[in-house]
Amino acid sequence: MENAFAEPQTIVLLGGTSEIGRAIVSKLLSASTTTVVLGCRRPGEANPAAFERPGLTVDVASFDAADTASHEQFVASAVERHGDLDVVVLAFGVLGDQAELEANPQAAAEAVHVNYTGAVSASLAAANQLRRQGHGRLVVLSSVAGERVRKANFVYGSSKAGLDGFAQGLADSLHGSGASVLVVRPGFVHSKMTEGHAAAPFATTPAKVADDTVKALRSGRHTVWSPGILRFVFSVLRHVPRGLFRRLPLG
Ligand SMILES: NC(=O)c1ccc[n+]([C@@H]2O[C@H](COP(=O)([O-])OP(=O)(O)OC[C@H]3O[C@@H](n4cnc5c(N)ncnc54)[C@H](OP(=O)(O)O)[C@@H]3O)[C@@H](O)[C@H]2O)c1
Repeated sequence: MENAFAEPQTIVLLGGTSEIGRAIVSKLLSASTTTVVLGCRRPGEANPAAFERPGLTVDVASFDAADTASHEQFVASAVERHGDLDVVVLAFGVLGDQAELEANPQAAAEAVHVNYTGAVSASLAAANQLRRQGHGRLVVLSSVAGERVRKANFVYGSSKAGLDGFAQGLADSLHGSGASVLVVRPGFVHSKMTEGHAAAPFATTPAKVADDTVKALRSGRHTVWSPGILRFVFSVLRHVPRGLFRRLPLG
């Protein structure tokens, strides 16, 4: 259970090799943290040593976002091993190459399955556990790409638009249960996912997204943009007429 300073004991990271997810976990670690569960589709890549320190158990567990049938069991077995979950960070996702995804509908469906269907299933499995406990926070990595979907990455962007809407509804459904959801909307973040891509305006780092996320968790917010200025940028972009929007040089 979180202590009076909102410091979690048990943290679960779904997408255990995600650079943003790991930065959030690192920032959340405190003397109160006893357990970190890294849910990875390739457990051999988890590098638990990066988190290890006295008094902290780092548990690497196999987790495939695409295997939705396994998600409830993944959560149940984490609870069986470690007790209540205080923070669950949903950080898995695939960007893909837009041109390749357009040319290969099956590949596009697989990417959307991970980013949306897999996230719906994993979020519900986690949220149902948090609701039963009567406490705990689910952190959902959405994206500004879902706020106004653009032609340069509309497969990914549409999956994030769906996920963002789902996470907002889930948050409202948990209201009053003691459990809650934080929706995180980063802009362009320098990570494995964006390697080789030209940086977008207001590009940021996993460490900065982690700072913004942990501040938002500690102050009990339901949504955080990273960097914060993107909230204002997108409140304008959201209303730009389509004919103009498609001609904007947004990458
Ligand atoms: N980077 C950005 O600019 C940016 C901006 C906004 C939002 N986001 C979102 O933030 C989250 C974290 O992204 P990141 O920048 O940290 O990227 P990242 O380092 O590439 O992390 C992506 C993670 O997703 C995992 N993953 C992919 N498919 C999976 C599957 N089927 N099952 C389980 N795990 C799977 C990857 O595992 P492997 O290591 O096995 O591939 C990796 O751990 C993602 O949801 C992303 O969409 C990123």
